[in-house]
Amino acid sequence: MADPGANRRSRDSVANTLIVAVSLSLVCSVLVAGTAVFLKPIQLQNEADYRQRIILDVAGLYEPGVDPGVAFAGIEARMVELESGEYVDEPSVDTFDAQTFASDAELGIAIPADLDIAAIRRRARYAPVYLVREGNEIEQIILPVYGSGLWSTMYGYLALENDARTVRGLRFYSHAETPGLGDQIDKPSWRSQWAGKKLFDDSGEIRIEVIRGTVATEAPAASADTAFQVDGLAGATLTGRGVTNLVHYWIGEHGFGPYLEQLQNDKGLQP
Ligand SMILES: Cc1cc2nc3c(=O)[nH]c(=O)nc-3n(C[C@H](O)[C@H](O)[C@H](O)COP(=O)(O)O)c2cc1C
Repeated sequence: MADPGANRRSRDSVANTLIVAVSLSLVCSVLVAGTAVFLKPIQLQNEADYRQRIILDVAGLYEPGVDPGVAFAGIEARMVELESGEYVDEPSVDTFDAQTFASDAELGIAIPADLDIAAIRRRARYAPVYLVREGNEIEQIILPVYGSGLWSTMYGYLALENDARTVRGLRFYSHAETPGLGDQIDKPSWRSQWAGKKLFDDSGEIRIEVIRGTVATEAPAASADTAFQVDGLAGATLTGRGVTNLVHYWIGEHGFGPYLEQLQNDKGLQP
């Protein structure tokens, strides 16, 4: 007579359990990997759309309800070789990725330690710039900027007036500073202070700074320095210092300095 438990015993065997476990994990990993591959283009598109929205916002051109892609079509993206400050056609803006380029032996460079005030170690040799035009005239220039805060690398955009000296806005789109402390860099009331601030003094020295405490705006405390100063972040002086440092790096000689100089001399205004 057949043993009724034999079938169950063979199903419960170690080999069977292993086969089921391995098959299940294979099916699951194929499903997860497939979903990740399938979703990757959508994720990249969402990131690109979000960055476009931030660029429009920092330029004061974002309107809720208006498709950012349509509004962004009016912004001209150009590639700049940072060392010369010249526009280049290759590499193209569409294929540019700051991290990939920075770590590439040809397309990126190591930043000498004494110049690395943004604490980013390497950067791409090229960077995109976004030009807002009014007719044929450049009205604003938007620069990608990033650097270390207290806990994280803070990524954002700095919008400048067409004098290439006056700030139109600064907005971060990615960081991991502490909620309630370092993340005050996202507060509209703090961000709004940047508009109109000057990056350089008349001698060309970089002066823009997130100070400790509050900028004096009323006489007699207000001084010529007020034009270069932004309020500190309460309890988050280190994030504020990171913002100062990254802005200094990117508008400085090793960042967009040569490009900004060309704009200030009018040479870069007609690409
Ligand atoms: C859990 C924790 C999170 C913090 N996060 C931040 C931060 O995101 N940014 C920052 O500048 N300081 C942060 N700080 C405070 C810094 O350690 C430091 O005390 C502060 O930047 C000094 O700024 P203050 O002189 O304005 O107080 C944090 C402190 C703690 C304990």
